[in-house]
Amino acid sequence: MKKLFPLIAVLATLCATAAQRPLQLIPQPVRAELREGHFAAPGCKVTAEGFASRPEGLIRVASALAAPHGKQPARKTRNTLLLQLDARAGIPAEGYRLRVAEHEAELTAGDESGIFYGLQTLLQMADADGNIPCAEIEDYPRYGYRGLHLDVCRHFFPVEFVKGYIDRMAAAKLNRFHWHLTDDQGWRIEIKRYPRLTQVGAWRSKSQIGSYEEKPATFEFGRYGGFYTQDEIREVVAYAAERYITVIPEIEMPGHSLAALTAYPWLGCTNGDESYEIAGWICGPGNVLCPGKESTFEFLENVLDEVVALFPSKLIHIGGDECPKGRWKACPLCQQRIREEGLKDEYQLQSYFIHRIERWMHAHGREIIGWDEILQGGISKTANIMSWNGSDPGIKAAQRGNPVIMTPKWYCYFDYSQTSDPERYEPLGNTRYVSVRQAYRLDPCDRLTLPDQKRIRGVQCNLWTEYIADIRHAQHMVLPRMAALAETGWANDRKDYNDFVRRIPALVAVYKAEGYNYAPYLFEGIE
Ligand code: ACM
Ligand code: ZN
Repeated sequence: MKKLFPLIAVLATLCATAAQRPLQLIPQPVRAELREGHFAAPGCKVTAEGFASRPEGLIRVASALAAPHGKQPARKTRNTLLLQLDARAGIPAEGYRLRVAEHEAELTAGDESGIFYGLQTLLQMADADGNIPCAEIEDYPRYGYRGLHLDVCRHFFPVEFVKGYIDRMAAAKLNRFHWHLTDDQGWRIEIKRYPRLTQVGAWRSKSQIGSYEEKPATFEFGRYGGFYTQDEIREVVAYAAERYITVIPEIEMPGHSLAALTAYPWLGCTNGDESYEIAGWICGPGNVLCPGKESTFEFLENVLDEVVALFPSKLIHIGGDECPKGRWKACPLCQQRIREEGLKDEYQLQSYFIHRIERWMHAHGREIIGWDEILQGGISKTANIMSWNGSDPGIKAAQRGNPVIMTPKWYCYFDYSQTSDPERYEPLGNTRYVSVRQAYRLDPCDRLTLPDQKRIRGVQCNLWTEYIADIRHAQHMVLPRMAALAETGWANDRKDYNDFVRRIPALVAVYKAEGYNYAPYLFEGIE
């Protein structure tokens, strides 16, 4: 008899109506139980309780269920969808509880973001007719920080693309958009006090095409670039906030600063008489700011003044990665700073630089986050570390007591190709690869004791765009790997790859309906 149960289960699945089919939710909720029957959402009445004022934004999201495709159904029903904010219900932050019955769907959360995520779950559950299977669901995220990054420096992406990217993040229940705004290949944020940053720094005269490995490199000549005005930045920040996503800007320092140096050469380790040229891509070792000069810090503080006015995020990303030390070694002002501050070497000079910026940030009510190289030469306990050189720097930082975001490149770099199979079509790109399965394998707390695990604030994946020049290509790189990230962020402790694969067809149906260009390998049985 026992042996028959699986067969019965399979038959029951095959006989189920659309509204009764097994749930295919990504990320997988903490608890999800299917019940008999369905709730017909079109024409239902949306009501809200417990909010200080009418939650117009959430009601707008809910209306996508009540009026699918923006069309009000001809007939209103007696069915109700209740959005209930209840801080005393004991639901963890960003979590929600859903009870879907035949005539009433009740969505409860302790905060508005929880209501938003519950609505995302309902949107995933609804079939083409707007029917939602009756169910009881309880859910809350494993990590408070669930980020996706976008490099707009190597290639520039317009506001409309950025908004679409944020839409997909919201559907995947991610909540931090890391916007990589400055680098050697372009400065992309308007700073009123320093207009040359975008007049000069946002435009390059050549771009590398072809493979990174190709020597000599091939270039395409012609003016390329773009930047966001402060109005556009505010527009994106507000758009993200409506989707419960915080935008974390990244202003790179002290390396990866060639665009700023091209605009204002006096920022470098020279008298300002060296001329720089924004990189087509690969660039030499001279792209560093000079920490020997007070004027460099004055510049950065003035820039950051405008940045913190635009971005309400508590965390401001200051880069800090891949800063070569050769220029500092040869610079009399940097050497003078090392002597005067009693520093041992250029690594401690980097540490001096980061500490100074951190002090400024604290004085302005913010915190710094930086790539793991900010650990070089010593770092304060309060700095947030983004571990990209594998997980080891993050593990060390967590053991020291620093807050950590895990983004180890072997799992989280979405610019890496998705398959190593030469028979499969992959656009020209990074020759290293991270399959969907590999992205899914990430365990952010691996090799950490329970107390140290508390330092791991979350997880992020990154889209560097050296090879990625257009929207279709960008979509191909993040879909469906973004779904694997979402599942780590919400459901890391109960991940099951085979079950994930079982649930992914529902997501693919969305990609198809929306016309997204996703990578198909997972669905062809290829890792
Ligand atoms: C990085 O990939 N350089 C953070
Ligand atoms: Zn210097």
